[in-house]
Amino acid sequence: MSTYAWVTLATNDLYSLGALVLAYSLKRVSTAHQLAILITPTVSESMRNKLKDVFNVVQEVNVLDSQDAANLALLARPELGITFTKIHCWRLIQFEKCVFLDADTLVLQNCDELFEREELSAAPDVGWPDCFNSGVFVYRPSLDTFSKITQFALEKGSFDGGDQGLLNSYFSDWATSDISRHLPFLYNTCSTATYSYLPAFKQFADRIKILHFIGRMKPWLLNFNSQTRIVYTPQESGYLHPYLQFWWDLFCDNVHEKLTEDMPDFINQEEGGLAGALSKLRLGEPRSPEQEAYEQHIRRQCWESGNIDYTGRDSFDNIWARISETLSSAPPKPAETPKEPGSM
Ligand code: UDP
Ligand code: GLC
Ligand code: MN
Repeated sequence: MSTYAWVTLATNDLYSLGALVLAYSLKRVSTAHQLAILITPTVSESMRNKLKDVFNVVQEVNVLDSQDAANLALLARPELGITFTKIHCWRLIQFEKCVFLDADTLVLQNCDELFEREELSAAPDVGWPDCFNSGVFVYRPSLDTFSKITQFALEKGSFDGGDQGLLNSYFSDWATSDISRHLPFLYNTCSTATYSYLPAFKQFADRIKILHFIGRMKPWLLNFNSQTRIVYTPQESGYLHPYLQFWWDLFCDNVHEKLTEDMPDFINQEEGGLAGALSKLRLGEPRSPEQEAYEQHIRRQCWESGNIDYTGRDSFDNIWARISETLSSAPPKPAETPKEPGSM
């Protein structure tokens, strides 16, 4: 057995869906190395069993949360304080070397050569290229490093409230010390590159090794038609469609059949209930009431999290047409009741 491992993290059933698809994407490219996942107590029992089928190691860890509301607000991602939990990856000392991958990444080509790199190797962040993006990094598990990073976090915190700010401060010489620790962007191609530098995205598309669905819009939060198996891609992200579809293809072929209804349902539990809802969809069959309910739920979640398809499905024209339709089909007003004599 290899002493190297790919490591990811999921603190709920929703991100576990991402982790499962990621694991199948690694298997598809025949990686020679092991798969490990860190989970927190908030991942359902039923989901843990699915994860155990695919990952060699499923390690429960406690939640580490920066609780740094001010810096997380700057990042506009209040939920990411919990990404401090990622730091537990240094505790997987049964492995000699590891590559951490966010659960929203997708491996498109075999990248086992990453294990030839040294700690801490990572690719530049699209927003601030003198920082590395912490969605993909090569590291060496070590209890000593784990305690040094946690101590550093307690003393200095994180400038973005998440693990990326913390790790960039801890490994602060990454930008200047050793170019071999700079991974090519192809190992962590952020999905936002489709609008920050579309010509390059088109030019190098065939060479992308790992795609990272960075930001609020995650593949599992997009509308998906269970009858056609096609994902609905918002208009402004059109170039991402083949990658989003690939994510859903992996989901349909490998993950869907393993989901079970006992994964908390969104009607009873907001967080993570999507897995239970997805399990009820029948792929390739005509639309059912479950499909309708699931779509409504996803669409609402997209709106509420600010993922609005302004130029496409959610455009003003479409919304106005819907309002007009509803108004024109509204029942006629009841006739006014005559006033009682003497009343105001
Ligand atoms: N994560 C998680 N639960 C959460 C938020 C994040 O398990 O509620 C993990 C997951 O592995 C995820 C990573 O932390 O991929 C970083 O978060 P995310 O990918 O959403 O951040 P982004 O890459 O969009 O900045
Ligand atoms: C990022 C990284 C992600 C990290 C988050 C919080 O944008 O992609 O991996 O968890 O910032 O620091
Ligand atoms: Mn990510």
